[in-house]
Amino acid sequence: MTFLKLTLCILISITANSYAYAETPPTVPPESEAKASSTHVNTQADITAGQAASSICQGCHGADGNSYGPEWPNLARQNANYLAKQIHDFQSGARQDPTMSSMVVGLKETDIHNITAFFAAQTVKVNKVTQSNVGKKIYRGGNRYSHVPACAGCHGPNGAGNGPGAIPSLAGQKSAYVAKTLRDFKSSTRSNDRNQIMRDIAAKMSDPEIDAVALFLEGMGAEQLASAK
Ligand code: HEC
Ligand code: HEC
Repeated sequence: MTFLKLTLCILISITANSYAYAETPPTVPPESEAKASSTHVNTQADITAGQAASSICQGCHGADGNSYGPEWPNLARQNANYLAKQIHDFQSGARQDPTMSSMVVGLKETDIHNITAFFAAQTVKVNKVTQSNVGKKIYRGGNRYSHVPACAGCHGPNGAGNGPGAIPSLAGQKSAYVAKTLRDFKSSTRSNDRNQIMRDIAAKMSDPEIDAVALFLEGMGAEQLASAK
């Protein structure tokens, strides 16, 4: 994807998300567009087949995509394009993890199409967490002294990400996983981000900032629930 296209996606994402933010939903619902969209196969995804094909995955990532362990990411509500990109990256070795690399070895395109549609259609459960204001400040406004950009600029004001741009949803994601993956970007252990976008950002973040923003994200949605009451 060219930088121009990415910028366009981000702009669309911001517009779409600003609108969604005004009608803050209590939980983060599945992206309806994610159900049917995939860049790889043009046929309609079969969510029921995806549920069956992902039985092994559910052992860690949860029967409804809400994972059973703090370092296993939730896949619920994650956009199908982002999920498919990660699976392809694990298959090609562009993203490496000893557990995941072996999990996706034999996965066919049809399975990937259906599995990602199944997880995208699930609802993410948001945990109530105690947090400082630091995480929220960084998420919404970045840190102008260390030139960390606002996460919301790409991941959206409500953390919903952007399907067409394969920008991940972060709302409700497990904080231990988010902190680990940001440190992996910082050390370039994870290097599958296009144009080094996330490696450049994470490199500018301090450890306390990483932990604070990770905690904020795990509770994102719970806060909306509270303010909606
Ligand atoms: C034994 C536990 C386990 C199983 C089973 C498993 N995963 Fe994972 N998965 C993980 C871990 C751990 C990570 C995080 C890797 C890292 O830290 O980079 C992960 C990450 C992922 C990601 C990246 C998510 C993100 O937010 O970037 C995707 C997509 C994924 N798994 C899909 C699958 C699919 C599809 C299957 C079944 C074919 C599967 N996983 C089976 C443990 C598991
Ligand atoms: C310029 C756009 C942009 C900005 C700003 C941005 N991100 Fe990202 N982020 C991305 C993209 C694109 C990816 C997907 C990388 C890939 O393809 O693996 C990503 C991936 C991530 C992931 C991995 C999610 C997962 O499930 O593994 C985390 C965590 C993350 N970003 C957190 C942040 C935080 C925290 C900030 C603010 C400090 C931020 N991002 C700012 C574009 C951005």
